Amino acid sequence: MSVVVGVIWAQTRDRVIGSEGTMPWHVPQDMAYFKQVTRGSPVVMGRRTWESLPEAFRPLPGRTNVVITADDDRAQQLSEQGAVTASSLEDAVERARPHAAETSTVWVMGGGAIYAEAINKGLARVAAVTQLDLSVDGDTYAPELDPAQWHLVSAAPEEGWQASESGVGYRFETYARR
Ligand SMILES: NC(=O)c1ccc[n+]([C@@H]2O[C@H](COP(=O)([O-])OP(=O)(O)OC[C@H]3O[C@@H](n4cnc5c(N)ncnc54)[C@H](OP(=O)(O)O)[C@@H]3O)[C@@H](O)[C@H]2O)c1
Repeated sequence: MSVVVGVIWAQTRDRVIGSEGTMPWHVPQDMAYFKQVTRGSPVVMGRRTWESLPEAFRPLPGRTNVVITADDDRAQQLSEQGAVTASSLEDAVERARPHAAETSTVWVMGGGAIYAEAINKGLARVAAVTQLDLSVDGDTYAPELDPAQWHLVSAAPEEGWQASESGVGYRFETYARR
């Protein structure tokens, strides 16, 4: 079965992806896009990203939610809350794989160190990056996609920004590993 691993995130101009356990912006179109891209695919995330989801929305519906933690007690609680737990990124991807349809994608959905690990270890082949025309302070960052290793496959809009209802400009970019 040829399951691809992808990463998906939204970042500001400075690659900020989070601040104090949350995303410091409101772009409903990005949430809708995330839902559309990941629906039906397993998702992999770190324990803090899981905790950043509103309780009523976790596990994210229609998707196997694999959560990475190094803490056995937390793992027990997480599985009682409906998550599949894993002790490393590789373990998480292996646990997610059987839940992916053939030729579908396992989506790694954060946070910062987990994205970096997925990129640096060569696990991720696809990156769905929402660019936000915004500058905010943050404490969590997306890794850089090295142009020598990644190329832009598509962007919507192709140039410039689409305006969200909150006024923030956004653009959906898809990259593939060369
Ligand atoms: N903009 C976006 O698209 C986006 C997407 C996702 C998240 N975010 C934001 O990012 C922030 C959360 O991300 P984060 O980087 O702080 O945390 P995170 O990666 O979601 O979670 C970190 C936790 O995951 C577990 N973990 C991570 N790597 C591990 C490893 N190799 N082995 C074992 N356990 C591991 C550990 O849990 P234990 O401590 O339980 O062991 C660690 O404390 C929030 O602000 C969130 O809103 C933004």
